[in-house]
This record gives sequence, structure tokens and C-alpha cells, in this order.
Amino acid sequence: MILVVGGAGYIGSHINKLLNKKGYKTAVFDNLIYGHREFVKWGDFILGDLADIEQIRLVFKKNPIKAVMHFAALAYVGESVEDPQKYYINNVANTLNILRVMREFNVKFFIFSSTCATYGNPIETPIVENHPQNPINPYGQSKLMVEKILSDYNNAYGLKYATLRYFNAAGADPDNEIGEWHEPETHLIPLVLDAAIGKREDIKIFGTDYDTPDSTCIRDYIHVTDLADAHILALEYLFNGGKSEVFNLGNGNGVSVIEVIETARRVTGKNIKSVESPRRPGDPAVLVGSARKATEILNWQPRYFGLNNIIETAWSWHQKQQNIQD
Ligand code: UFG
Repeated sequence: MILVVGGAGYIGSHINKLLNKKGYKTAVFDNLIYGHREFVKWGDFILGDLADIEQIRLVFKKNPIKAVMHFAALAYVGESVEDPQKYYINNVANTLNILRVMREFNVKFFIFSSTCATYGNPIETPIVENHPQNPINPYGQSKLMVEKILSDYNNAYGLKYATLRYFNAAGADPDNEIGEWHEPETHLIPLVLDAAIGKREDIKIFGTDYDTPDSTCIRDYIHVTDLADAHILALEYLFNGGKSEVFNLGNGNGVSVIEVIETARRVTGKNIKSVESPRRPGDPAVLVGSARKATEILNWQPRYFGLNNIIETAWSWHQKQQNIQD
């Protein structure tokens, strides 16, 4: 059985679905603070919190856990600057709890959700895995701390881990069963689609004075189903004796904020109003990752390459979600 911690959230729920489709038994462990119970349509569900180590022990006592996939983290960059303690407790201390119980029960396999935010302001693009890591906010720091802890646990205790550094996760399940749903929402694509559906008046473009071709920020958007594929490949790589590794998960393809909005206008057929606004503090101009290592070692091939695919699936989900809420 695979324990999917945070499997009721956006990314975790997509991986939980794919694990079940591939024949793995799963148990989702989630406190539902940001996750959604209705996203756990596959496997078992356990309501629980990583802050409670006795509760984690009970889960391991009752279930034959072979590996842990860990998606449970706070991920609001701005909030992490205002309240770093919250981030270090949730993202670092609580991760130590699960790692501690894994040691007690001799569970050796761990897949960790990390982020391109651990690189900080990149000095070279596309970013490769050994690019210097100098995060510029506590969120990125908290993820980097866990990365370092995993490396030490590997050396000392033989923990086998894969750290997956996501670039901008986007899109939704092509079967339209689950998708992106954050409260509050801060991500570009769902906000653009909110403007398309009329839930908000416009989309603010944060910064139109960057040193990029159209002067707006560039990101590497990667479809959540492609992320899910990479998680299964990483898990099987470890099961087959692969050594602990770190992988970037991106497309290697940079897209600007204006390009996202224009693609959304085409896909939705809606006249989405955009408004030039000041920069958002802490946004690097360009974040694009090289996925070469994941391609070479895991044989990962993104299937939903391209912004059209991403926005089409996100749009289907967004409309469905809106209908449910109405
Ligand atoms: N943006 C806008 N208007 C908005 C929202 C976003 O112009 O209303 C811009 C941002 O400035 C940025 C781009 O759209 O240039 C993407 O922003 P998102 O908030 O969607 O994503 P981020 O790149 O900020 O965040 C992602 C991950 C974080 C991670 C971060 C690393 O979601 O978890 O990359 O920088 F920390």
C-alpha cells in the first residue's frame, strides 16, 4: 500500500488517481484544511494530521505501508514571509514526524514534493538540478530544509527518496473528475479562468517591466497529469533499486503571463479583460526548468505538452466546478 499524504489536494489527488489506475492500493492521509474530501475517489481515506505522531503510528500499525508520497504542505509564498513559523512547523517539523514513523516501521521509500522555489532567483536558464539553491522566501526554505534532511537520512538510515521539484503545476484531470481548487486562489491560470467565467472582472498582470520579450514574467507550466506520470516512474525507479535522486519536473518551455491570457482567450472564446498592475514582490522574471534528467533516468515523457492542452483541461474543470458551486 502507498500512503498518499496530502492526497486530497490538487496535485496529490491526481497522483492518487493514477496510482489506483495502475493497480496500487492507496490510503490518503489528509487533514482537509486545504484538501477536498470529494477529491479522494480512489483508495482509502484517513482524516488525520501530521502534527499528531501517535495518529501516524496508528496508520502504520493498521496498514502495510510500503512507500510514502508526501504532498501535504502549505504553499502560499506571501503568507510564508508574514508567518514563517507556520511554514517551518507544517512543512518541516511535521515532515520529520512522518519520517520518524517510517524509520520505526522500517519503511524505506519516500517521494517528496519539492519546488522550483528552492532555486530562488536563477542565474542560469533552463535550470538544472545542480543549479545553486538560494530560496528567497520561507516557503522555498522550508522545502529546501526537507531536501537536506532527506539526503542525511539516505546516508545514515538508507532512506530511498525521490525529490521532485515542480515548476508551475497546471491543468486538470483529462477525465474531468478532479482539478485545481485552492481557497484562496492565487495562481494565474485559475484566476484567468475566473475572469473568463465572469467570477472576477479582470485579470491583473503582475509586472509589465520585466526583462523578457513581452515584459511579463515567464514560467514553465507543466500538466498535473504529466506530474502524476513522473511520480509513478520515480516510485518504480526506487522499487527497482534506483538510488535516491532529485528531479526537476517542467517542460523546459517558457510561457509569459500575456501568452497565458491570450491562449485562455482563444480556448474559452471569452473576452478576458487584463489590467496592467505592479510587480508582485518576490516573483523571479523567468523560471524554466530542464527536465532532461527525468527524461533520461525515469524515461519520463510529458504527454500534455503545450499550453493549449493545459488550458483546455483546466477550462473543462473550471466550468464543471462553477456549475457545482452555482
Ligand atoms: N500572475 C499574474 N496575475 C495573477 C497571478 C499571477 O500576473 O493574478 C503572474 C505571477 O506574477 C507569475 C505568474 O503569473 O509571474 C505565475 O504565478 P502563479 O502564482 O500562478 O505561480 P508562481 O510562479 O508564483 O508559483 C509557482 C508555484 C509555487 C512556487 C512558485 C515558485 O505555484 O508553489 O512557483 O516561484 F513557490
